[in-house]
Amino acid sequence: MLQSSLLTLGLGPILAVAVEQFSVPNVEAIFETSPKPFEIHVDRQFIEETRLRVENTRSPVFLNAIGDGPSAENFTTIRDFWANEYSWNDTEAAINSKLEQYTTIVQPVIDNATYQVPLHFVHHRSDRADAIPLLFIHGWPGSFLEVSHIIANLTHPPNASVPAFHVVAPSIPGFGFSPAPQKDGFGPVEAGHSFNALMAQLGYPKYVIQGGDFGGVILRYQSHLFPDSVVSALSNFWIIQPSENDLRLLAEGQSTPDEVAYIKILETYINQASGYRVIQSTEPLTLAYGMTDSPLGNALWMYSLMNKIIDPAIMSWTPKEIITWSLMYYIQGPYGGMRFYKEVSRDGGFATFDFGTLPLVEVPVAISQFPYDITYRMPLEWAQRGGNVKKRVVNDHGGHFAAYEVPGRLLNDIWSWFGDKEASGVKAFGI
Ligand SMILES: *[C@@H]1O[C@H](CO)[C@@H](O)[C@H](O)[C@H]1NC(C)=O
Ligand SMILES: *[C@@H]1O[C@H](CO)[C@@H](O)[C@H](O)[C@H]1NC(C)=O
Ligand SMILES: *[C@@H]1O[C@H](CO)[C@@H](O)[C@H](O)[C@H]1NC(C)=O
Ligand SMILES: *[C@@H]1O[C@H](CO)[C@@H](O)[C@H](O)[C@H]1NC(C)=O
Ligand SMILES: *[C@@H]1O[C@H](CO)[C@@H](O)[C@H](O)[C@H]1NC(C)=O
Repeated sequence: MLQSSLLTLGLGPILAVAVEQFSVPNVEAIFETSPKPFEIHVDRQFIEETRLRVENTRSPVFLNAIGDGPSAENFTTIRDFWANEYSWNDTEAAINSKLEQYTTIVQPVIDNATYQVPLHFVHHRSDRADAIPLLFIHGWPGSFLEVSHIIANLTHPPNASVPAFHVVAPSIPGFGFSPAPQKDGFGPVEAGHSFNALMAQLGYPKYVIQGGDFGGVILRYQSHLFPDSVVSALSNFWIIQPSENDLRLLAEGQSTPDEVAYIKILETYINQASGYRVIQSTEPLTLAYGMTDSPLGNALWMYSLMNKIIDPAIMSWTPKEIITWSLMYYIQGPYGGMRFYKEVSRDGGFATFDFGTLPLVEVPVAISQFPYDITYRMPLEWAQRGGNVKKRVVNDHGGHFAAYEVPGRLLNDIWSWFGDKEASGVKAFGI
């Protein structure tokens, strides 16, 4: 956000709207008040400086200890691949050829204040006349790239008996190529307003949402705030904090097997795997000093979590994927994405050690659960405390990044839920 310029809009009374100028560090990008085609072009000098930093990373003195973080082998494997083999040129060209991207500025009004929110997003239209607009929202440590394994099947499904979609996959501000908010106060409420404004700008006054991780959090605010626009949602991260009473019943041995399993998963996550979340939701800048200076440190920070929440029977992360995913934060700098945790806490969602209370969703929702994700086996009755959850699918394979890891299963859940026009409410589209 540099300086303001004045644009005059409209032919009647002259309406002067100050449109701020936005930029993304190390990327050629312009943001205007309507969608403009965008291809990723990252400054090659920055890419080379990053590679040199990786090559020169100071190694920890490894202790003979396990479970302290990604292994020494991971450190050297990823460092050497990045220094010697990784090609940003190829990666950039592959993303640009696979995903049609745009930039824009949306101007939602939130509590009587007009925001100017620059966004990067993917938009693919279906040629099916009955296609439904679908907003796909990613989370941390993911990005818009998570949509890449399902987007072609959503826009061009195998036959007319399953629904087709126009797909919009934005980068949350601070992630990918959406510039980070320049001050605090931009969290899931503001993201929900912004993505609703984006759908309206694209000519989709009504749409459905699919999301996991922060996408699953934002969709709850957005569906709550805009029940006339959000027709229905499918969440693969519908989290409910167990109540005092649930924990009392557990202690008394009166919980169901699903309830026991879900509480154990949450406990293991909180006690053994949630340290990243505590620091990102309390002092993200303290962390950002080191992570901005060390691309390899940042990649290993992300990989530590990425590796815990995938199904090892389905996939393992390659050095190339780890580097590319980390660059979706590192190119603009990882601070803005990390501090989204703090904003979720501010808006009442995740607190430091629990999952807070998210707003009630009145529109019909289906939830998909995967064994390597932390919402796995949460009972439907508990899910319904968060809103109008009509369907729960318990998948037997897959993890947190379902769209990327088990695209066929998520596609089936999407097709089956939005294909049920009555239950999901998509008959509102008149199809
Ligand atoms: C990271 O290390 C673990 C254990 O040494 C190994 O199983 C895994 O494949 C490694 N991953 C990468 C990307 O090197
Ligand atoms: C990457 O592309 C740039 C131009 O965009 C070119 O100058 C450079 O040589 C390429 N690097 C490699 C390793 O191919
Ligand atoms: C917004 O403006 C309206 C009308 O001026 C006022 O009633 C309302 O309290 C304002 N809301 C906030 C959150 O400031
Ligand atoms: C259409 O495609 C879906 C998804 O692949 C499949 O489940 C279904 O059997 C197909 N229906 C027909 C009539 O081919
Ligand atoms: C998705 O599309 C690809 C390419 O057409 C196809 O090979 C794959 O089977 C599709 N997946 C599903 C679940 O239909």
